[in-house]
Amino acid sequence: MGITSKPVVFAVLAAVVILIGTTVTVFIPLFMPSTQPVSSYIKPYTAVEQEGRDIYMREGCNNCHTQTVRPLRTEVLRYGEYSKPEEFAYDRPFLWGSRRTGPDLNRVGGKYPDSWHYKHLDSPQSMFEKSNMPPYGWLAKNRLDTSYSFKKTSTLGYGYSESDVRQQIDQYRLTVTDKSYPSKESRDKITPPELGKQLTEMDALIAYLQKLGRDVKKMEATK
Ligand code: HEC
Repeated sequence: MGITSKPVVFAVLAAVVILIGTTVTVFIPLFMPSTQPVSSYIKPYTAVEQEGRDIYMREGCNNCHTQTVRPLRTEVLRYGEYSKPEEFAYDRPFLWGSRRTGPDLNRVGGKYPDSWHYKHLDSPQSMFEKSNMPPYGWLAKNRLDTSYSFKKTSTLGYGYSESDVRQQIDQYRLTVTDKSYPSKESRDKITPPELGKQLTEMDALIAYLQKLGRDVKKMEATK
């Protein structure tokens, strides 16, 4: 009489074996530091970049754009270095996405100057006639609401004080509203004069886009 003729014993033993397998392959790695690598190059989002990230989610950009470059030759040639686990340490929720109506954006930071993004977000079709990306010019007409910025960065555990957050916001506002801002002309063209000296939702969204992959590019440069 083998074990196969005792269905209950067989089922219990099979369940125990599967349970051990699951524990070893799922739960143990979940708590192993090597599966959650950290890199000193990967920095949390600034308060402004975090606001931009929230606008990206609110507008559903992730329905058309992924944020993960797979380790495939064609993808690496098109987008750049493939995505590493440590890059997503501050992404809550992650925005890897699954649909690529538009190109992957995980390496878009630094690919274009800010002026390119102002023009492109205002009217993708003015740059790529057949683009099916909707225009987002109205984001430049909305003043950025920063009243929850500190609450957001502290909930996410970025470790900024309230004055750090205020300074990051003020600093970015001074950068994009300054006479010497290299993308001033494109920004002024779509930003209403009364918001000329304020941060708009589009400013924050562009700050976020410029952050995507920036730290990894620095990390790779030192290798
Ligand atoms: C309906 C799908 C769709 C949505 C929604 C969408 N995009 Fe796009 N996006 C595209 C397509 C298609 C392209 C390629 C053509 C072009 O550049 O316009 C593109 C291109 C881009 C590029 C240039 C990428 C590169 O490497 O050249 C950026 C940046 C971008 N989108 C940002 C955004 C942001 C930010 C949002 C949300 C505010 C957004 N997109 C929403 C479809 C979309």
